[in-house]
Formats: sequence, C-alpha cells, structure tokens
Amino acid sequence: MGYIDQLPPSAKIDKIIQLHNEKQTWINQDKKGFLRYRRPSEALQEFSATTVNCSLDAVKIGAEHEISPHDRQTIESHLRTFCPWRKGPFSIFGIDVDSEWQSQRKWQRVLPKLPDLKNKVVADIGCSNGYYMFRMVPYQPKLVIGLEPSVQHYYCFKGLNGMAGQANLEIDLLGVEHLPLFPECFDVLFLMGVIYHRSSPVDTLRDVFCALKNGGTLILESQAIPGTSETALFPEKTYAKVPGTYFVPTGHCLKNWLLRAGFSDVELFCQHPMSSMEQRRTEWMEFESYSDFIDPLEPAKTIEGYPAPDRVFLRGWKK
Ligand SMILES: C[S@@+](CC[C@H](N)C(=O)[O-])C[C@H]1O[C@@H](n2cnc3c(N)ncnc32)[C@H](O)[C@@H]1O
Repeated sequence: MGYIDQLPPSAKIDKIIQLHNEKQTWINQDKKGFLRYRRPSEALQEFSATTVNCSLDAVKIGAEHEISPHDRQTIESHLRTFCPWRKGPFSIFGIDVDSEWQSQRKWQRVLPKLPDLKNKVVADIGCSNGYYMFRMVPYQPKLVIGLEPSVQHYYCFKGLNGMAGQANLEIDLLGVEHLPLFPECFDVLFLMGVIYHRSSPVDTLRDVFCALKNGGTLILESQAIPGTSETALFPEKTYAKVPGTYFVPTGHCLKNWLLRAGFSDVELFCQHPMSSMEQRRTEWMEFESYSDFIDPLEPAKTIEGYPAPDRVFLRGWKK
C-alpha cells in the first residue's frame, strides 16, 4: 500500500494501516472463496504488458504479438475466472473482454466536466475492476486510489494492473464507509454507481465532502428516476431487480442532497435514460441484464412497476 506515503498528515494513517492489514490477513486465508480469485490474479500478475493504452474505449493491456498462443490461452482462462465481468471493455493481449457494461459511454459523459487530474490525488469509490481508474491514466494523476470492498473486483484489478504496471493506480479493500479515515485527502473524488446503495445518502455525501481537500471536486453519477420534482423513490425491496437499493432520487433531488452536504456550484450536467445498449448480457456476463429488469410490455417501467431508470451526472466543489 504505497499510497500511504502520498496522503497528507490529516489522514488517519495508523487506522488505515491497521484496517488494511486486517483485510489482507482475511483474504490471505486458504479458503475456496478467496483462492478462486487470488490464484488467477497472481497468475495474471506474472505477465507484463509492453503496450498499454488507456485512451481507447477498450482499455488495451498488451498486444497479441507480445505473447505466445499458449500463454494467451492461459491468460484467457484466468480472465474467465472473474466472470461475470461487469465493467469494461478491455483488450488484453488481444483477448477482447466484452463486459456487461459499455463503461466507455459513462466515461465519455464524464469527460466534458472532468476536473484537471494532473499531479492530483484522486479517489474512485466503488471502483469495481478499475476500468475508470485506467481511463484516468492519460490525464497524469499523481495517484488514483480505488476503494472497493468486493474481493472479486479487488483481485481482478490486481491481476489487470499486475499486467499493465501503472504505478500510480492502487486499490484497497475498503468502502465508502471508511472515508472518515481520509479527512481532506483528495483533490478529486469519483462516486459513481454507489449513492443509491446507501441507506443514509446525505450522510455519505457529507463524508465525501470531508474527504475532499479545500478546492476539491466531486464527480457523482447515479441511477435516478426521471422528472424534475425534488423527490426520491424508496422501493419496498428491489429496484430493477437490484436488492440493496435505498433512495433513487431525481437529478434535482440529488442536487439538493449535494447542496445540503455542503457542496458549492453544484451542476447536473447530464441525464439520460438507461438502455440495453449500455448494459447487456454478453459472453463474459451470462446472467440477467438490463432488458430483464424492465417491464417487456411497458418499457418506461421496471419489472416492479417503478419508473424505469435514468442515469444522472453531477459535479460539485468544496470551497
Ligand atoms: C454499480 S457498481 C459501480 C461501479 C463503478 N463505480 C461504475 O460506476 O461503473 C457499485 C460498486 O460499488 C461497490 N461497493 C459495494 N459496497 C460498497 C461500499 N460500501 N463502498 C464502496 N463501494 C462499494 C461494488 O462492489 C461495485 O463495484
């Protein structure tokens, strides 16, 4: 965890190290649930890519000619242990990983409002396999720390970056609830696809606010219900079949949450309906996807009868 040296003195370093060590002890147990990801992740880290290109829609790690056909088969079988692949696409030594999400679309929507990342300390909270962290590389951040509590995604990122060798990208098995350990630590913070999973979203946004340095910027992306009212939907059990969904706000409601959490100059800069162009079943994610979550007879409704989701993008500043 080289990132510790790059945090300001305000960070609760002792506690972060303690938690990090506890998590490492936990995942280093020789239990099936950890070994199924740890082994392929370590095997992937044995390969080193000469060509890395994070500017393409499909993050390119290695070219086909860099390895033998035998090694390519080995790499592909290790990559497949991380199925279902949610975020991507990636091209790894010529292997096209067609993930469930066309994540480049989300990144393209963020780009017009992307803060300056050069030499900045950036956090990506709920970073999954690190797709967006890789996409930040061309903007030369000093450091991007991904916080991601899922062991599967953690090891997937480790495998990918073991091959890609991007020294300024790091991940830790922590969650958004650990942000109070990072007061005034980040110049830029990304919170994408997370806020509707929080039971107290405004408290989470206050934690995000505290974790930013003065002058820092938040990029917030969320599922939302359509409309201009200042309301949030609170589903009984699931929303679009996803359990663990709490408040699904309108874009305007989310803007109000940000203002109430202390952010300034908040702007809702993009809103669009979700579609199965963006999230769909693929060979690398064979389970149900967006089209299964929507009422087939009434596509403006989820399968539960709620308004079908939009996605919204907001930017706010700590001043
Ligand atoms: C819907 S995905 C969004 C992934 C990515 N940020 C994106 O926008 O495409 C939610 C991510 O948050 C992670 N997550 C789950 N609980 C979390 C927590 N307590 N703190 C941070 N991330 C969490 C999940 O494992 C998953 O990778």
